[in-house]
Amino acid sequence: MTDATDLEAIATEIAREAGDLARRRRAEGVAIAATKSAIADIVTEADREVEALIRARLVERRPGDGFLGEESGAEEGTTGVTWVVDPIDGTVNYAYGIPAYGVSIAAVTGPPIPGEWDAVAAAVYAPATDELFHAAVGHGAWLGDERLHVNDEPSAAGALLATGFGYDSATHAGDLARVARVMPIARDVRRGGAASLDFAYVAAGRLDGYYERGLQPWDHAAGALLVTEAGGAFGRADGSSPHRPLTVAAGRGLFDELFALALD
Ligand code: IPD
Repeated sequence: MTDATDLEAIATEIAREAGDLARRRRAEGVAIAATKSAIADIVTEADREVEALIRARLVERRPGDGFLGEESGAEEGTTGVTWVVDPIDGTVNYAYGIPAYGVSIAAVTGPPIPGEWDAVAAAVYAPATDELFHAAVGHGAWLGDERLHVNDEPSAAGALLATGFGYDSATHAGDLARVARVMPIARDVRRGGAASLDFAYVAAGRLDGYYERGLQPWDHAAGALLVTEAGGAFGRADGSSPHRPLTVAAGRGLFDELFALALD
């Protein structure tokens, strides 16, 4: 196993190169390649190309590691390290030309299963704003070379929260009921459309908390480490929907209350 900061350096370097490719492809125009679980769940040609680039770079740098990517699936490794990758998180934003999209790369050890792995290094790069969020376990979370800290005490006006909605319209009523339950503690709620950036913004204190049901492993692997290394809390629970677990990230002063309100 390599030092976590070495894995962080690899993640940041590759995230930047991948993000530059995504931004170039976006400028050339976006082609929808396929839909996945639902008609709203799209994959662009760029998603596939960017994931292929990330995978190729990781094979060059870390040939024995495992890989778990949104577009190309899982491959077991031999080193105990697995890279969990969302090449373009916020694909719908990307397709519509909204700049809130990001490249998310995490290195985890242990079984490549959320809840069982230990995230050791992370990079989330937002190409449109050229912001690179990164973390290594035990070494803090950073935006470029500025150390990040979550907001520990939301203001008296309430917490600035973010959430997301599943692509399956059958889940929307439950998602909206959840928004109604958290609203009394919120000054406002955002739906940014890129989970990796929601986590990064919690880490940076730009949001007080974020929750969503039904995130995939590549949506939260890097973001969770950013939040915990910035002093915040991250947790997941099945509640009534084991196939759509709830994920919550927030400063420690808010976490328990937000978790209790969002879980059903
Ligand atoms: C999606 C985004 C969105 C979240 C969805 C994710 P994708 O990822 O992060 O904000 O609400 O749950 O699936 O499909 O754009 O990579």
